[in-house]
Amino acid sequence: MTRASLSKEPREVAAMFDDVAERYDVTNDVLSLGQDRRWRRAVLSAIGPRPGELVLDLAAGTGTSSLPLVFAGASVIPCDFSIGMLRVGKRERPRLPFVAGDAMRLPFADQTFDVCTIAFGLRNVSDPGAALGEMLRVTRRGGRLVVCEFSKPTFGPFRRIYDRYLMRALPTLATKVSSDPESYLYLAESIEAWPDQAGLAEVVSGAGWAGVQIRNLSGGVVALHRASRP
Ligand SMILES: C[S@@+](CC[C@H](N)C(=O)[O-])C[C@H]1O[C@@H](n2cnc3c(N)ncnc32)[C@H](O)[C@@H]1O
Repeated sequence: MTRASLSKEPREVAAMFDDVAERYDVTNDVLSLGQDRRWRRAVLSAIGPRPGELVLDLAAGTGTSSLPLVFAGASVIPCDFSIGMLRVGKRERPRLPFVAGDAMRLPFADQTFDVCTIAFGLRNVSDPGAALGEMLRVTRRGGRLVVCEFSKPTFGPFRRIYDRYLMRALPTLATKVSSDPESYLYLAESIEAWPDQAGLAEVVSGAGWAGVQIRNLSGGVVALHRASRP
């Protein structure tokens, strides 16, 4: 297995997700040790969709992150730029109104959405600041942002164990369940290189979002960043 590069071009990122699309959901469940269901419930409560609200689920992939919002009664537009992920999503969840689009040049008019959310996607976007700026543009004034992303465990001893799991066990486990284990080496490396909770909060507010709040999940393995459009 060669080492995946962290500085991937957008088309390389799209191709990487095209390759893992078929087994994406099952691999996710295994590698997160089932935690992803809890994280998705927390995202839902952070968004708190109200009746009639329109939600953009950016980097929605196969629509796994969109489904809990739909079940809660929200109108959700799942958007992604990997045709492979969109194809699997459309096949498995034909009722979801998938849209093909790049997070850095969203195909939506200004102030279209009440809420923008991105789950386990911002880290993969080549320019996260630009994507956060685009999300701001397409969100109405007073609208909300919820980012769910891997982060840094806050308790030192746990963080050391986690780092060992992440960098060694995860890629090994991925060879057993994923259709493209090398992508999961990239996953581990990209999580390690990603800013911590405070660092991401700065990127979010730097893009123009106001009142950034952080909530750690699973001891900081994942963090939610909430903010609103001024
Ligand atoms: C790990 S998946 C997350 C999918 C889904 N949100 C979930 O929670 O299961 C990351 C997704 O980000 C998408 N992505 C990465 N960069 C993107 C970009 N610039 N524009 C749109 N989607 C992007 C990938 O195609 C991939 O489907």
